Amino acid sequence: MSRTIGVFDSGVGGLSVLQYIREALPEARLIYVADSGHVPYGGRSAAFIEARGMALTRFLLSQGAEAIVIACNTATAAAAAPLRRQFSKIPFIGMEPAVKPAVAATQSKVVGVLATVGTLESARFAALLEKYAGDVRIVTQGCPGLVDLVERGDLRSIEARRLVERYTAPLLEAGADTFILGCTHYPFLAPLIREVVGEQIALIDTGAAVARELKRRVDTELPPCMQMGVVGDEIFHSSGDIERATRIVSQLWGADVTVQPLPQAYS
Ligand code: DGL
Repeated sequence: MSRTIGVFDSGVGGLSVLQYIREALPEARLIYVADSGHVPYGGRSAAFIEARGMALTRFLLSQGAEAIVIACNTATAAAAAPLRRQFSKIPFIGMEPAVKPAVAATQSKVVGVLATVGTLESARFAALLEKYAGDVRIVTQGCPGLVDLVERGDLRSIEARRLVERYTAPLLEAGADTFILGCTHYPFLAPLIREVVGEQIALIDTGAAVARELKRRVDTELPPCMQMGVVGDEIFHSSGDIERATRIVSQLWGADVTVQPLPQAYS
C-alpha cells in the first residue's frame, strides 16, 4: 500500500497547495476533491462549510486517506476544529493566512491581507492577529469575485486586472510592502497581482509551509509505509460540472488529467 493523502478545497484553489505536497511526498497517492458544486465558500455560513467539510472528509476516508489537508483558508477557519473533534485519530493540516512570516518580513510595518470575507471575519483570524501582529498594522481586504475568476480559469483578462487593481489599491495606499495571499486560489493570480503592484511588494502564501507540516506529521504520526520507490499519483474529484472541472484542473495543474464526479452521497 502506498501512502494516501486526502486534500480538499471549495474548488480548484487547493491545487496551488497540491503542487507543494507533490514535491514533499513524491511517493504518495494524492486524492484531491474540488467542491466546485458549492464554490465559493467565502460568503457561506460556518455551519454550511462545516457540513461540507464533514462530507468531503468522509469521502476521502472512504478512499483510504490517512491524513487530510484542508487546502482552504476559509474552510480551515470554519471547520478545522469540528473536524478534528469528529475524526480525532486523523491528522488534519489546515491553512491560515501567513501573518507571522509577513510580520517578520515587512519593512514598512504595514502588512496587507487579501482573503475571503469568511476568513477575515472568523474568530480564528482575529486570534492570529492577536498573537502575531505586534506593532505591525494589518490592513485587510475581502476580495469577492477573485475565486470565481480562478474557477473559470481566467487569470489575466481585463476584468481580472480591474478586480485586482481595486483590491490592491487600498493596501498600497496604506503603505503595505508585504501582501498575504490568504486564499489558496490567489497564488494562481500572483503573476497578475505582481504586474499590478510592482516588484517591490512581497507576496506571501502558505502552500510550501503546509506541505512541510504535512510531511512532518506524516513522518511522526502515521505508521511507516513499507512500499518504497513507487511513483505517486493524483486522483481528482469534483462536485461541480465535470467537463468544466476537467478543463480547469488540467489548465491549473499543467497536465491533462481525468476528473471524476464526487459520488452523489457526498455532494
Ligand atoms: N480557496 C479558498 C480559501 O483558501 C477559497 C474560498 C472560497 O471558496 O471562497 O479560502
